Amino acid sequence: MTFINRDVVSIKDFTNKEIEHILDIAEKMFPIAQGSKKSDLLKSKLMATLFFEPSTRTRLSFETAMQRLGGKVIGFASSSGTSIEKGENLADTIRVVSGYSDLIVIRHPHEGSARLAAEFSPVPIINAGDGAGRHPTQCLLDLFTIRKEKGSISKQHIGLLGDLKYGRTTHSLASVLARMGASLTCIAPPELQLPKEIIEECKEEGINPRLTNGLGDVIKDLDALYVTRIQKERFPDPAEYKRISGYYKIDKEVLKQGKKDLIVMHPLPRITEIASEVDSLPQAVYFKQAFNGLPVRMALLALILGRAK
Ligand code: CP
Repeated sequence: MTFINRDVVSIKDFTNKEIEHILDIAEKMFPIAQGSKKSDLLKSKLMATLFFEPSTRTRLSFETAMQRLGGKVIGFASSSGTSIEKGENLADTIRVVSGYSDLIVIRHPHEGSARLAAEFSPVPIINAGDGAGRHPTQCLLDLFTIRKEKGSISKQHIGLLGDLKYGRTTHSLASVLARMGASLTCIAPPELQLPKEIIEECKEEGINPRLTNGLGDVIKDLDALYVTRIQKERFPDPAEYKRISGYYKIDKEVLKQGKKDLIVMHPLPRITEIASEVDSLPQAVYFKQAFNGLPVRMALLALILGRAK
């Protein structure tokens, strides 16, 4: 098993064993992520973050991960002010930035952009979200959170709720959860259900996800409820977004129907789909989940840059 110089475009690039190994290294990174232990593991390494779409958690946790490990960061948080505004294409941007850095993290609105970047880059590419496509490092931190909170991933019953059509985090997560032996219920309005090709991927992994639009019927059976935002920016019709945006609201009353040890996850940002009264409940793990992005990304950077085994 080697991670050195590997691209991370899809979670499918990793076997179950490799995923467990990344999560094990992430556990060891925890004190460094918390700032209670110092490290210069990535001293002399330089990461470029190219974000063509907005981000808070992914970009800042990658940058924090690099800096907590003694590395350096260059990059941009929007294409505004770069030569992309003059018409430079993605391939040329990648060719140039790969000469300045040891690894590139990219978020881009077009599905397939990270794969394209990997074709043109001599340094490793990490996909930080490509349109409605994939978000593999979010998937790793989600798996880390489930394992940490529930003790294992296999045999857990996970409910994915909300915008499963445009929500790229659930696309990465669904098939890998199936592969790792979890069972799945997909709770979404019919027009926002998990795409057929992702359902097929789950079936190939031996799990046939249950599909429903009603949380009330299934919440009592779940070990984890993974809530997602309705992805306003990907809706072709604003009126349609408005009609669907308030479809689900997780509040104290809803959670009374669930198991006592149910965990509520969310990749964030959250808009109105989880009431703020939930934040103080023991079930709410979404802020811990966002923090977990830090040790997980530290682990990935260290493995890919050859400073961890
Ligand atoms: N979860 C996530 O990808 O958050 P950001 O869009 O803030 O990076």
